[in-house]
Formats: sequence, C-alpha cells, structure tokens
Amino acid sequence: MRFIPVSNDLAVSRWAASYIVDKIQTFAPTATRPFVLGLPTGGTAIAIYRELVRYYSEGSISFAHIVTFNMDEYVGLAADHPQSYRFFMQAHLFDHVDIKPDNIHFLDGTQADLVQECKRYEQAIEDQGGIDLFLGGVGQDGHIAFNEPASSLASRTRVKSLTPDTINANARFFNDNIDLVPKLALTVGVGTVLSAREVVIVATGEKKAAAVARSVEGSVNHMWTLSALQLHPHAMLICDEPACSDLTLRTLRYFMGVEADNIDSPIFVMPSVGDGACSV
Ligand code: GLP
Repeated sequence: MRFIPVSNDLAVSRWAASYIVDKIQTFAPTATRPFVLGLPTGGTAIAIYRELVRYYSEGSISFAHIVTFNMDEYVGLAADHPQSYRFFMQAHLFDHVDIKPDNIHFLDGTQADLVQECKRYEQAIEDQGGIDLFLGGVGQDGHIAFNEPASSLASRTRVKSLTPDTINANARFFNDNIDLVPKLALTVGVGTVLSAREVVIVATGEKKAAAVARSVEGSVNHMWTLSALQLHPHAMLICDEPACSDLTLRTLRYFMGVEADNIDSPIFVMPSVGDGACSV
C-alpha cells in the first residue's frame, strides 16, 4: 500500500484530485475506451470534487469519456431526495462537468427487488470492463463504502444494515435527526472495491485516526474493512496529519521517507521526546 501523509485536509483533496487528473490524462480516454471511475460521497469527497471541477473549468480535463460508478446509496431515497447520494453527486460534481448522463451509474435504493438491483450493478461494472480507479473515503469505524465492521472481505454489491455509529455519523446530513437516517443501504462489496485496477482512499481528521492506524499497522481484518487495502496490488491511502495521529512515529517516518519527493515538506512537526512508541 502507498501511504501519503500530508499536512491538512486541503492538501489531501489537492493531492487526490491531481493524482486522478494525471491518471485520466495519461489514460487518454475515448468514446470506445472510456476511463471507469468509482466514486464516493461524504464530506471528505466534497473538496476533491471541488478540485476536479476546477481542473475541468481550466480545461485540464474532460468528463466526456469518463464512466462513473458510485459506491453506495441509501435504501428508500429517490434520486431527487436532497439526502440521497445521487443528489449529492449532481450537486457536487455531475452538474458542473461535461459527463454524459448515460455514463453515470448508480445503485437505486427504491427498487422493489434490491437483490436483483445489486446483481444488475455488479453486471454493469463487469460490462464496462471493470473499474480503473476506485476513489473512496472511510468511516470512523474503518468502513469503506458501506462495508461495516465484520463485512466479508470477499463481499460483492449487496444490501447492508448500517451500524448505530454510522447512522450517528451521517445524521449531520439529516438535520442531526437520527430518525431520518435510513437504516439500510446498497453498497458495493469489499471484493468489488478490490477488483478495481487501482484504489485510492482519503481520510481526514482525528476521528479517522483509529481506522487509519488499525488498517495500516494492523493485520487484514474484517472488523476494519479499510485494512483490505493491504490485499490490493495498487492501493493508496492519503491522510492529513490528524488522521495520522494514532500511527507510531516510526511508521510515519517510514512513509514520509518513501514519499519524500511526492509530498509537501516538512509536513509534521516532530516531537522532541524520542522515538519508537511515541505517537504524533
Ligand atoms: C459514508 C459513506 C462512505 C464514506 C463515509 C465517510 O459512510 N458511505 O463511503 O467514506 O461516509 O464520510 P466522510 O468523508 O463524511 O467522513
């Protein structure tokens, strides 16, 4: 796994967006050979989409030959519901770039047969030849997409019940009213994410620090589904300083050394109290 520690949330979004733009430019997508991008929602993603829109406005990138698959969607919320993930994506990205509506793929949580809807989604991804790059965020409990703790690391797209922690965390998008937060979601599986040719996950803020430390320094474990990144040949985790705060100084120094040419420097003020077990 590549681990990119940068100073703050703005640097995370800039690093991620610039990396994605570079990938797309190098790929040089066409109508017959589009770039297939997996996308997340969530607060962390907003700044990345702002950056991508900026690149588009400057003419550095076009979405005309980009096909997207979003990671997840709430059960029961229609596309025009202001808290649906589909609505979020229109507001933060799709309405501002030249993506073709037919190239946007979403799980539909209003379908009567949700199992069939999940099968359809997996098939649609396969029909596109798989996902070139899956961008994702991470929940406080280490979930990727809506793969809550104890999700199978081999899971594919399916219906998932959300944990109280996730419902609490997402209540901020529902006027802080927990009762309004759907209790079920459709989500790509950990296995679906791992099938992408490349995975880029972003984490910002101290609330993500435990998930980052468990997933980078711990073993692969279904209780922290982010740790499945360790199984992917081209996975990257981009974190700001607060999200790194549970890592040991030794781990941080290691990755800062490996990525010295690729990150702003100095990014962390090293404590003067010695090495080893000391955390930043
Ligand atoms: C939700 C989404 C995840 C996202 C997570 C973190 O649970 N299903 O895909 O990674 O939120 O969101 P935020 O960036 O707002 O912390």
